[in-house]
Amino acid sequence: MNHKPAILFVCLGNICRSPLAEAAFRKAAAEAGLEAHTDSAGTAAYHVGEPPDPRSIATAARYGIDIAHYRGRQIEAADFARFSHILALDHSNLANIRRIAPDGHTAHVSLLMDMVPGREGAAVADPYYDGEEQFEYTWEDVWRAAQALVARLAAAQ
Ligand code: 4NP
Repeated sequence: MNHKPAILFVCLGNICRSPLAEAAFRKAAAEAGLEAHTDSAGTAAYHVGEPPDPRSIATAARYGIDIAHYRGRQIEAADFARFSHILALDHSNLANIRRIAPDGHTAHVSLLMDMVPGREGAAVADPYYDGEEQFEYTWEDVWRAAQALVARLAAAQ
């Protein structure tokens, strides 16, 4: 890859799963010495301008990452030009991303878990209505995917 990869993680609200995916990817990329532009967004506008869910902030903090300064935003058409990879946390987000994608865009759009051998086609479950322990499972999924994505991007450079 000639240019620095630019990765956008997308869930519904941009307060639970995609901030954790962004944090996991930043950590995995830093550990691997991979330079990348990284952000996250939601398909919905419910939580624009808000910090991540306190349960996501606490989960990231357990892994040494401060995400309290992240702020929710909604994916927009310009993101399809800004980002080389747009990774959806689940199938309905993937469908909504594809629905708003401008004609002729060049971003690679896929499910995040497609990065993990044996987990292709899987969703990262929405933890919003669940207890705190579900966020630990969210972290396990996004951390595995982040490591796999970093390995792919590093191999492509
Ligand atoms: P996320 O979780 O998509 O992982 O950020 C959710 C956050 C908010 C809502 C649903 C899911 N909500 O309905 O407000």
